[in-house]
Amino acid sequence: MDKLIEEMERYAREYDIPIMQKEGLVFFQKLIVENHIKTILEIGSAIGYSAIQLARLDPDMHIVTIERDDERYAKAVENIERSGLTDQIELIHGDALEIDIDGNFDCIFIDAAKAQYIRFFEKYETLLKEDGIIVSDNLSFHGYVEHPERKMSRSLRGLVRKIKNYIVYLENHEKYDTLFINEGDGLAISRKKKTNMVE
Ligand SMILES: C[S@@+](CC[C@H](N)C(=O)[O-])C[C@H]1O[C@@H](n2cnc3c(N)ncnc32)[C@H](O)[C@@H]1O
Repeated sequence: MDKLIEEMERYAREYDIPIMQKEGLVFFQKLIVENHIKTILEIGSAIGYSAIQLARLDPDMHIVTIERDDERYAKAVENIERSGLTDQIELIHGDALEIDIDGNFDCIFIDAAKAQYIRFFEKYETLLKEDGIIVSDNLSFHGYVEHPERKMSRSLRGLVRKIKNYIVYLENHEKYDTLFINEGDGLAISRKKKTNMVE
């Protein structure tokens, strides 16, 4: 398994595939264990790296993961087969905004097109269990979000603005409380607010 993980990391570097950063992943793995998470819906599989790294934590873990890019999807199929975790990881080829998924998940992991985070959140929060968590990755976007003074292309500036909008959206969400974590490329952990039942 370690050899496969190393190969995937090398492949991601070589072909410029944005997989989860080490510190973010370690933090996420710990969060999953501490919260007894057994079912995860991941939006954005890339080559299957994070799905494999999460599934290997626990033989009872079940992950559904969606990837729209043909080449990355094919590579993810290959990597998941090599990992021997095909019983635990269900890989879906498609655009997460166009397909429909059934299920009820302990965790929804948003790690796809940054400009669409609000849409992913709104579409998929309906599949979250009552005490589940939504984890969003790359909210720092390589430090650009905290350092808008840095030189940026117009498209990068647009993307950073969308990530900031998402952060404000989470901060003001009436149904969710969100914790922002400065690990890896910046993570957010959102949980449903507890509603007080008043008689
Ligand atoms: C940051 S990468 C995912 C990395 C992966 N979670 C990991 O850490 O190993 C984001 C992936 O999301 C995919 N993606 C972007 N928008 C998507 C969408 N609407 N539906 C499905 N996949 C999408 C991209 O093709 C890309 O491979």
